[in-house]
Amino acid sequence: MTQPQGRTALVTGASAGIGRDIARRLAADGVTVAVHYGRRKEAAQETVAAIEEAGGHAFTVGADLTADGAVDTLFAELEEALEGRGLDILVNNAGVSLGRDTPSDMAQDDYVAGISHVTTEVFDSLFAINARAPFFVIQRALPLMGEGGRIINISSAVTRIAWPLLAYAMSKGALEIMGSRLAQQLGPRGITVNTVAPGITDTEMNSWVHETPGAEEGISAMTALGRLGLPDDISAVVAFLASEEARWVTGQLIDASGGLCLAPGGM
Ligand SMILES: NC(=O)c1ccc[n+]([C@@H]2O[C@H](COP(=O)([O-])OP(=O)(O)OC[C@H]3O[C@@H](n4cnc5c(N)ncnc54)[C@H](OP(=O)(O)O)[C@@H]3O)[C@@H](O)[C@H]2O)c1
Repeated sequence: MTQPQGRTALVTGASAGIGRDIARRLAADGVTVAVHYGRRKEAAQETVAAIEEAGGHAFTVGADLTADGAVDTLFAELEEALEGRGLDILVNNAGVSLGRDTPSDMAQDDYVAGISHVTTEVFDSLFAINARAPFFVIQRALPLMGEGGRIINISSAVTRIAWPLLAYAMSKGALEIMGSRLAQQLGPRGITVNTVAPGITDTEMNSWVHETPGAEEGISAMTALGRLGLPDDISAVVAFLASEEARWVTGQLIDASGGLCLAPGGM
């Protein structure tokens, strides 16, 4: 994808999964990437090392985005590393589908799936990372962004499909609403805002797919393109939205799920 020289990006949640691959892809397109992590600094450093090994430029920035003052901490580190350069691309990718510390063996039951057992703590933590953090990261990033800026938020196909994980879906719904409204507000500044909605993608968030017999086959059968999503299926879409070629696309929600549950009954 065409990226003017010297562009910079912040990718939140780039210590793993989809965010790691978005960071890799943007760096491969010539962008200097701030690789954000929450808890796993070493994993973020591994992302940076892989980028540098491939000839790209990246550095780490860390902050638990649910903590008080996290956005200030993050931007103090970011601005120091940018040394006066602005921020061209912001990818709000960090997210959780369960409460951050919910044991994974509780993931598939009603504890987090439906309305009956979700606690206020779980609900608040989902909204804090998936909706509140992107809002305030964008607020803090805007003074650094100019004409041609790109904001890309990572939502989920769960807003389109009545999958379980009700509170998670609600938090991503809030993120999607923010995207279209912000696109309208930031259009006069030449900044685009778009949202990408992955389907079921092969990352740690979905370790259950490999732990549950028949799950991968079942997901493939529900998907028009017949397989589980991969992180680079998502980063390819983000790279396009971040590029010069996408200058006339804003306020859009782009499904990147391979056609998950397109037919009635999912088949
Ligand atoms: N995988 C899927 O099937 C799928 C489908 C639809 C949408 N999505 C969305 O895609 C995004 C990435 O998902 P993924 O599957 O790649 O997830 P993942 O592998 O579990 O990685 C999550 C990333 O978010 C960061 N993070 C989580 N909580 C944080 C916090 N409180 N503060 C700062 N960073 C935090 C993690 O950082 P640390 O580990 O360093 O703390 C990690 O880098 C999420 O927004 C998710 O909702 C994923």
